[in-house]
Amino acid sequence: MDLSLTEEHQAIRALAADFVDRDVIPHATAWDRAESVDRGIVKRLGDLGFLGMTIPEEYGGSAGDHLSYCLVMEELGRGDTAVRGIVSVSLGLVTKPLLAYGTEEQKRAWIPKLVAGDALGCFGLTEPGNGSDAGHLKTKAVRDGDDWILSGTKIFITNGTWADLALIFARTGAKNLPEDAPENETQAQNNGPRGITAFLVPTTSPGFQAREIKGKLGLRGQATAELVLDDVRVPAANVLGDVGQGFKIAMSTLDKGRMSVAAGCVGLMQACLDASVGYAKQRDQFGKPIAHYQLVQEMLADISVDLDAGRMLVWRVADLIERGQPYATAASTAKLFCSEAAVRAANNAIQVFGGYGYIDEYPVGKYLRDARVLTLYEGTSQIQKLLIGRALTGVNAF
Ligand code: CAA
Repeated sequence: MDLSLTEEHQAIRALAADFVDRDVIPHATAWDRAESVDRGIVKRLGDLGFLGMTIPEEYGGSAGDHLSYCLVMEELGRGDTAVRGIVSVSLGLVTKPLLAYGTEEQKRAWIPKLVAGDALGCFGLTEPGNGSDAGHLKTKAVRDGDDWILSGTKIFITNGTWADLALIFARTGAKNLPEDAPENETQAQNNGPRGITAFLVPTTSPGFQAREIKGKLGLRGQATAELVLDDVRVPAANVLGDVGQGFKIAMSTLDKGRMSVAAGCVGLMQACLDASVGYAKQRDQFGKPIAHYQLVQEMLADISVDLDAGRMLVWRVADLIERGQPYATAASTAKLFCSEAAVRAANNAIQVFGGYGYIDEYPVGKYLRDARVLTLYEGTSQIQKLLIGRALTGVNAF
């Protein structure tokens, strides 16, 4: 289903579709079995301009609007959720906040490399003890002369072992607290969202270690890592934004990130539909293709309706961003619906394939394993519901 797309939108979508059909889909099963995507794909993504979408040309970016970005994320998501994740995280969660909050020097130092695929970024927010409650993270940063010294552990970090630059959120304590504030108020501010600062940490820094997490249910080709920061020293010039502004940087970054995850879910649903329709038309049972049976058509229709609805929700977010309107709640809505719908679609696809859906000679089992993470990362479905509920009522229920 399409609304009217401009020629430019159609061209970028065709470029991404061609890349996915030729360079991603034929390898996706092998990468899944090997638990690693071919790392050479990062440079290819850079060469195609996909790591620089919406980033101005003066920093080497390929510019374009947010709908173009969503169309590319959808195509990459159709091919392999792990490949889409490389771009969503490096571009969406590192390059974009660098552009929005970085000094000119920080932008010039990193953005051209990141958009070219000569460097990769990862987003270090989640910790072993703080997932949904990101505002109470424990990684510490202590000022030492002109430097900061960071120590702590981050977990489930996409691109973690491949990244050259880690955007690390660490506790520095809040800034500009009134001197006469009561002790308990000062403590709460220092230990809560206002006490967090964002740091640009080169992963070659002494004391920085990334350990790959193996044995994931899905998303096996993704380089997902635990990061350990053992007294990592960075200059004060590596603070992104202001001291104490880190949580807002993280949250505003995730608002756009959730759109990108949702677009990837739409692509995954499209892959489920394409595979299921194709299989239903060629698989004979009781003397005719199973596409002739109403209960099979019901499953195909269910995937198709979710797909169309999800795509519209994603495009709405892109449109709101382009028009400078608030989009955070629309992004949560799209992320919630599309990730849950992607799990439903993959589950239905397996049902259409029957026993063949359960072995990895066919792609749909991988779709279900990959889809499952989409309701977890960049904010669980429960967090999206609470954000939508808060927007509706004005009441904070977490
Ligand atoms: N944009 C800008 N500022 C925001 C904001 C946003 N979207 N959301 C909140 N803020 C500001 C608030 O205005 C508030 O500012 P003041 O202090 O000036 O009043 C401050 O931040 C604190 O906000 P909250 O009171 O809402 O903070 P909270 O602690 O109650 O936040 C939460 C709760 C919304 C649930 C938040 O913790 C959250 O979104 N959790 C989910 C975390 C998440 O999505 N993690 C994903 C990890 S990243 C990942 O998965 C990447 C990967 O590798 C794939």
